[in-house]
Amino acid sequence: MAKPPLSMKPTGWYQVAWSDEVAVGHVHTMKYFGEEMIAWRAESGRVTVMNAYCEHLGAHLGFGGKVIGEVLQCPFHGWQWNQEGRNVCIPYEKRPNRGRRITTYPVTECNQSIYIWHDTDGREPFFDAPDVFASFADGSSLDDYYPQQRLYVPGRELHPQYVLENGVDFAHFKYVHDTPIVPVFTRHDFDQPVSYVDFTITFEGDENQSIDDVDSGVEAINGGLGIAVTKSSGMIDNRTISAITPVDESTSDVRFMVYIGRPTTERARQNAERAERKAQEFGAEVIRQFQQDVHIWSHQRYSDPPALASSEMQGFTAIREWALRFYPDGKGGSAARLAAANLDS
Ligand code: FES
Ligand SMILES: [Fe+2]
Repeated sequence: MAKPPLSMKPTGWYQVAWSDEVAVGHVHTMKYFGEEMIAWRAESGRVTVMNAYCEHLGAHLGFGGKVIGEVLQCPFHGWQWNQEGRNVCIPYEKRPNRGRRITTYPVTECNQSIYIWHDTDGREPFFDAPDVFASFADGSSLDDYYPQQRLYVPGRELHPQYVLENGVDFAHFKYVHDTPIVPVFTRHDFDQPVSYVDFTITFEGDENQSIDDVDSGVEAINGGLGIAVTKSSGMIDNRTISAITPVDESTSDVRFMVYIGRPTTERARQNAERAERKAQEFGAEVIRQFQQDVHIWSHQRYSDPPALASSEMQGFTAIREWALRFYPDGKGGSAARLAAANLDS
């Protein structure tokens, strides 16, 4: 892939692990945004994500670091670091080193995922990570769904923005996902860092039906460029989370999660085993569809400015302009240059 003309350090919430990968007392290692990082869970259950190297002499805390209560002890000389990345104990001195601090990241845990806030300017979070249940404000909860089914595709040459642009790309559904007819978008709301996209779509029937007769659809909520959650209606009840996290200057990790609704009829409940098997199969099908997108994205070269059909102009312009706010370094592609040119003139 050609390196995207977009910064690989956009601002926002990004998934760095699943919650169950970081049990109490465990130190998990990972690499994101070009940094070696660790996630560790204290006795209290609180997760800390920080850069991996000890500020003393540079040991990697992910290789032998030990959680002791609410602090992390370095394997090299026993210095202890707290959840703010501050040194709180040098075992062979009276006082800790108050000056040095390991970089930590704001963390939120939601939908069995660990998200960090990443901002090259060090600003505090200016929006919340979306929740696949609570953000739809419909009273739903995990109890209404079978356990999460997951896909993890590490290290693909793609940018989080490719994934978001799916949210306006009506034309790809027929070709990538074999929908019989082209979906229509019924909502594009790109005013805030959290944006909303609704569309009418069907996977049933043939190409002679009219989209006006379709009563199934999807609502999507995009929390910045890193996390998108969806809710279906008029079809098998499913919710999804896609989370794309930059690893370095050219690759990202892709995570995708699906929840299938538990049966609501008495009859289906009685045949619980069959219902569960069906849910498993349908979840696998939703994941398969997402993999079709991943296949395209993994080999895509970001087109900027793109050759858009007139019917695509409005949606793509809106989403690319919306995306600009997440590039503090101004590397948001031609939309950024256009906006800058408008300001200059
Ligand atoms: S390198 Fe961590 S305590 Fe010395
Ligand atoms: Fe897609």
